[in-house]
Amino acid sequence: MSTSPPSRSAPALTLVQGDITEQAVDAVVNAANSSLMGGGGVDGAIHRRGGPEILAECRALRASKYGRGLPTGEAVATTAGRLPARWVIHTVGPVYAASEDRSDLLASCYRASLRVADELGARTVAFPAISAGIYGWPMDDAARIAVQTVCDTETAVEEVCFVLFDEHAYAAFAAQVQ
Ligand code: AR6
Repeated sequence: MSTSPPSRSAPALTLVQGDITEQAVDAVVNAANSSLMGGGGVDGAIHRRGGPEILAECRALRASKYGRGLPTGEAVATTAGRLPARWVIHTVGPVYAASEDRSDLLASCYRASLRVADELGARTVAFPAISAGIYGWPMDDAARIAVQTVCDTETAVEEVCFVLFDEHAYAAFAAQVQ
């Protein structure tokens, strides 16, 4: 008996105000840095709540495929340790620069993460507002790029949930999905 491959279209979008480490989805996306060795913000929370397994897998990735670090705009998966999710997809957003348009790199984070989710067979994926914290991207513009890119991406992922940490971020994303 043959099974047909999952159909690909733009995923359904949902917005949640909360903590991404608590989301019971197939995969959560980590706003990492290229070292893959952890940091603050979402990255710190994921490693803290997920436990040392995630970091051990990140170290293995650095020792094999990503000796020079994960490039900005790319994505790679590990398992999720003690998180409710099954996988963590680590991506590296661009640092915001008023003097240079790095929007393509930010969009690439969403596309690359969905591509990795497809490879994993993930059907539900939670994203934070990549680059909109420590990396300084203005929230309204980060939300516009995030929502447009996900809506324009063909994927077998059925649901993308944007998990926004505070009211300001939630309002910025809500304005884009009207
Ligand atoms: N759940 C959901 N959103 C969160 C959480 C959480 N637990 N914690 C923070 N946010 P950031 P970046 C929000 O700084 O800008 C790290 O050190 C936060 O309020 O996590 O891509 C990495 O190692 C903001 O709206 O990611 C890198 O060095 C959004 O998530 C660097 O920070 C993204 O903020 C990456 O910076």
